[in-house]
Amino acid sequence: MDLKEILLDRFGYDNFRPGQEEVIRQVLSGRDTIAILPTGMGKSLCYQLPGSIMEGSVLIVSPLVSLMEDQAMRMRKNGEKRVVALNSFLPYTERQRILGQLHTFKFIFISPEMLSQNSFAYHLNRLSLSLVVVDEAHCISQWGFDFRPDYLRIGDFLKQMNCPPILALTATADDKVLKDIQQYLRMDKPVVFRHSLDRPNISYSILEVNSAFEKTAWIIERVTHTVGPGIIYASSRKRADELAIALQMEGVAVQSYHAGKEQDDRAIIQEQFLNGELDWICATNAFGMGVHKDDIRQVIHEHIPATVAAYVQEVGRAGRDGLPAAATLLYMPADEQTTSFIIQSDTPGEAEIRHYSKLIAEGLPPGEAAELARLTETGKRVIDYYKEHYSLDKIVHHLKGLSYEKQKLLQQMTHLVKGGECIRQTALSYFGEVCRSKPAQCCSNCGLSIEWLTEAPTRKITNEKVSWDERITNLLG
Ligand SMILES: Nc1ncnc2c1ncn2[C@@H]1O[C@H](COP(=O)(O)OP(=O)(O)OP(=O)(O)O)[C@@H](O)[C@H]1O
Ligand SMILES: [Mg+2]
Ligand SMILES: [Zn+2]
Repeated sequence: MDLKEILLDRFGYDNFRPGQEEVIRQVLSGRDTIAILPTGMGKSLCYQLPGSIMEGSVLIVSPLVSLMEDQAMRMRKNGEKRVVALNSFLPYTERQRILGQLHTFKFIFISPEMLSQNSFAYHLNRLSLSLVVVDEAHCISQWGFDFRPDYLRIGDFLKQMNCPPILALTATADDKVLKDIQQYLRMDKPVVFRHSLDRPNISYSILEVNSAFEKTAWIIERVTHTVGPGIIYASSRKRADELAIALQMEGVAVQSYHAGKEQDDRAIIQEQFLNGELDWICATNAFGMGVHKDDIRQVIHEHIPATVAAYVQEVGRAGRDGLPAAATLLYMPADEQTTSFIIQSDTPGEAEIRHYSKLIAEGLPPGEAAELARLTETGKRVIDYYKEHYSLDKIVHHLKGLSYEKQKLLQQMTHLVKGGECIRQTALSYFGEVCRSKPAQCCSNCGLSIEWLTEAPTRKITNEKVSWDERITNLLG
């Protein structure tokens, strides 16, 4: 089959990007496939092209509503109208209507949570599926075990279907993540494609400061004197808000973005960032997945991310256009502990798990039991999932192991930050990659000049400084 002709014909591209054609051929041959391609490389084409040739529908499991809708919108723009994004935000009647005519859609986007609903399984079973895609498949590892257990149920669901081939897509997967993907999607001897994760146009800097105050001062100085657009990743919602306000007071076009904001506000802020009305975003890790902005020049971390994989994902949002971009991580000595604490508080402890279980055994409704045992909503969901599969002792053991593993991942990240070795090389080594050639502007440990950052200050400063009223409103929501 002449894939290149189809590529030009239906997608308007002259050539495949590295990796795309190989992955597409595997998918067409019916093999289960895992493709690890860097951010912005064009993973979506790996299911869109085969989908456009194959008979039945393509089901795409996607982690975020905004991500699904954005993808669906892009596909419609490109002329593919048979696409739908099924999510819990759709009004009931609309959802029923779509479910009734599901077979008329070629590409169906869905969240793992909706996939596990029985009502949906009924409709899917009547559908002829040619391919199941799990986009951002590292979420299985990253979120499945302690945040969104429905990620672990995708495999159970697939087992009920008559086994269409599966394609898992991600930009970052170390061996552990790869193993999880394979196991939880019940993949059958998948073919694994791995493209180098190195992004030579990104230069890495790591900088130690003494206090949060110094961080803020550094960020203000940096943002007002160098090129944007950029993203600042903060460790908490509060901190993201604080930084946004500090920068607004300097006249920078910036907003904060995190899960504490209304869905609508978040959508507006993302849109403003995409179309250039905002130069900077101060965000928690809730921001970034599926943000298709090619000209991000800087990503600044003002904390230590929990894993090297998360760091690489976040940093990878810079410089998708291939032009120089800078990643800077600021930290102070206490940050390692802060991150460690956040990780710990995310995983329910033994006492809480046992207490919760006991209360349930005594006949208390799960909601009340969780509250009494001081479980978070997420903690409850996770334990409920495990209770379906394991005994109490096993759950405790399992979650302890998980907590230990997370601390180990944080240690890798800390080593990257404090080790003083080439940052690029160290990061790549965690994904089993050897860095074959370092770019001239490699990292602060190899020596770096960041003059280009100041050369073309395209940053737009808003004329009106923000009034006190607005600042207070911004601050208090
Ligand atoms: N063969 C190609 N030639 C030119 N442009 C392409 C090609 N394939 C994909 N693109 C473009 O590359 C951009 C990124 O594609 P896509 O969103 O699929 O990347 P991705 O790998 O899924 O990134 P992310 O990790 O951010 O999800 C899109 O604008 C897409 O149109
Ligand atoms: Mg993608
Ligand atoms: Zn280096």
